[in-house]
Amino acid sequence: MKTVPRVEDVAEKLTSLAKRRGFVFPSSEIYGGAGATWDFGPLGVELKRNVKDSWWRAMVQLRDDIVGLDGAILMHPRVWEASGHVENFTDPLVECRNCRKRFRLDELPDGDALTSAWRGNTLDLSGVACPNCGERKLADPRQFNLMFKTFVGPVEDTASIAWLRPETAQSIFVDFESVQQATRRKLPFGIAQIGKAFRNEITPGNFIFRSREFEQMEMQYFSRAADALGFYEQWKETRRAWHIEQGLPAGKLRFRDHAADERAHYAAAATDIEFEFPFGWKEFEGIHYRTDYDLRRHSEFSGKDLSYFDDAANERFLPHVVETSVGADRATYAILCAAYDEEPDKEETRVVLRLRPHLAPYKVAVLPLSKKPELSSLAREVWAAVRPHFMSTYDETQAIGRRYRRQDEIGTPLCVTVDFESLVDRAVTIRERDSMAQIRVPIAELVPALREKLGA
Ligand code: GAP
Repeated sequence: MKTVPRVEDVAEKLTSLAKRRGFVFPSSEIYGGAGATWDFGPLGVELKRNVKDSWWRAMVQLRDDIVGLDGAILMHPRVWEASGHVENFTDPLVECRNCRKRFRLDELPDGDALTSAWRGNTLDLSGVACPNCGERKLADPRQFNLMFKTFVGPVEDTASIAWLRPETAQSIFVDFESVQQATRRKLPFGIAQIGKAFRNEITPGNFIFRSREFEQMEMQYFSRAADALGFYEQWKETRRAWHIEQGLPAGKLRFRDHAADERAHYAAAATDIEFEFPFGWKEFEGIHYRTDYDLRRHSEFSGKDLSYFDDAANERFLPHVVETSVGADRATYAILCAAYDEEPDKEETRVVLRLRPHLAPYKVAVLPLSKKPELSSLAREVWAAVRPHFMSTYDETQAIGRRYRRQDEIGTPLCVTVDFESLVDRAVTIRERDSMAQIRVPIAELVPALREKLGA
């Protein structure tokens, strides 16, 4: 019988599992942490890399209309003036005059109503109690820019300001003409990028859901203005389908369209793909129709004409852009939440990460039944045969049941057990994570058998 873990516990259990098994650690933990930044440990780096590879494969390698880019994090400071981020990339920050604690306006109780009132210039915080100290002493919101500022070179003056990018998208816009000319692409086509982004979030939290340093997987799709809304609708469906392929249940995904007054400064239409995290429905991908806003602004600010010449129509114009933007960390977290499962067992609950094989950190674990030298030696031979084909691991400590559990908990789809019979018949047992079913296969046929089971 399958039990579903209590929803509110899953986030807590995952945070502890992630730390204990080496998926994710707080950054600089021995110094008390570094304010909502995270390190991905040996298993986490594999999982997140698999998520990124899966996105890259779907968005670049399997398509004939999208090419890749890896832009620099530090860009010319005028980029962020042109993009509107210096002026507009702000959150309303509310400070309590009594306890000095700071909040994002929309995170106060009834935050949505307060935010609407603020947008309509009718906000009155005098009756609102501080969630921390309870005093009714919240100051009026002030705009807080989320970009991290630094300086290039040895002098810290206004001429040397640089910003850590808050989105990867801008290098795609700035490089639009170089990419288009180098690849001789015709519209419609896209440019995709995976990379770090930084935001000085006022209230980061929920583990890796909202942090100050994270990775984005973004794609800008350039087309004629008349075609852009059609592509916007297509991309919504394409991206939703990708999430389902990563193992997110369709019932835990939904679209939430942005009202006109909540859209980012560059968007004429926007929708969030939301996932039902253990702590509620939350955005984890944004699909935006950015019009020609970014190319127009960069043309104006740089003086370089970024328009596109359509030779068939003998026409020059600024392409319009539909953007898909998903956080690699947030997607990884959603995948972990969806994969987490518990099954009651005789002695203790079996914790299983039901990760799709292409995402699992290890595809195969090779386990000798005991540590006896003759078994270890054959098991290592088996591991050496498996290793070039699949990301795999080897474990010979503790009882075999415990070792199966350890692999279940980190999502390894298949275990290969080498027992004393193997010394005689040169065969091993493959044990499946989900069904716990076991089959015996000759060592000579092991790699194709694993490949078939993994669908690899
Ligand atoms: N270029 C468009 C853009 O950046 P966004 O909706 O601000 O749009 C896109 O961000 C995605 O980036 C979000 O849906 C989320 O997955 C991820 N993201 C944004 N801020 C984040 C944060 N502080 N921590 C982790 N992921 C974040």
